[in-house]
Amino acid sequence: MARLKVGVLISGRGSNLQALIDACRDPTYPAEIVLVISSRPEASGLGFAASAGIPAAVIPHRDRHAFAADAEALLREQRIEIVCLAGFMRVLEPSFVEAWRDRMVNIHPSLLPAFRGLHAQRQALAAGVRFAGCTAHFVRPELDTGPIIGQAVVPVHPDDDEERLSARILEVEHRLYPLALRLIAEGRVSVVAEKVEIDGSRIPEIAALNPQETSSMPLAPTRD
Ligand code: GRF
Repeated sequence: MARLKVGVLISGRGSNLQALIDACRDPTYPAEIVLVISSRPEASGLGFAASAGIPAAVIPHRDRHAFAADAEALLREQRIEIVCLAGFMRVLEPSFVEAWRDRMVNIHPSLLPAFRGLHAQRQALAAGVRFAGCTAHFVRPELDTGPIIGQAVVPVHPDDDEERLSARILEVEHRLYPLALRLIAEGRVSVVAEKVEIDGSRIPEIAALNPQETSSMPLAPTRD
């Protein structure tokens, strides 16, 4: 089985990169990470790439144009087929995004289209939403937009602060991102009229990432 060749772009911690690395360890997983590019030399995610023996490059994000040119050259050289943004914190040159149309995926810590941009979890708390989560989506030039591949939902608890909510969302990011990449690598994902269609998407693991009944309490008090 030829595995889909993936390049991962990071800027920092790299926990989503690690989740993808872990998924790729399974020999039946249909994708492999062959290149990591970091926009920052001090990104701790570079350590995860090194431990997994994955070649990594640092391309400082001096300006958008230079970054795009250097990244494009490396991605081509390694014959990358899909680019995954995993905590990549810079806005990409629109022509670079267009060149990778429907072949570049991002994970964002909100249920898009709500709370685009920075501090999505803080925005969710400020809005008082009852559910938060994350979204895996194809990338378009406008920040945090693009056809949605999958979403995972978590409850917001009354005593949540940004840190607790972020940790709860991060846990499901680490499940959703490998799942989205697997579906793409299996050739089951297509974009039709800017919406994602997933062949055979009624599989249980997707349902498991949607809200489940969380309590046996009735929504409103009942009288007997
Ligand atoms: C994640 O919350 C991701 O959704 C967002 O940036 C964060 C990156 O975390 N785009 P990590 O670097 O993958 O640990």
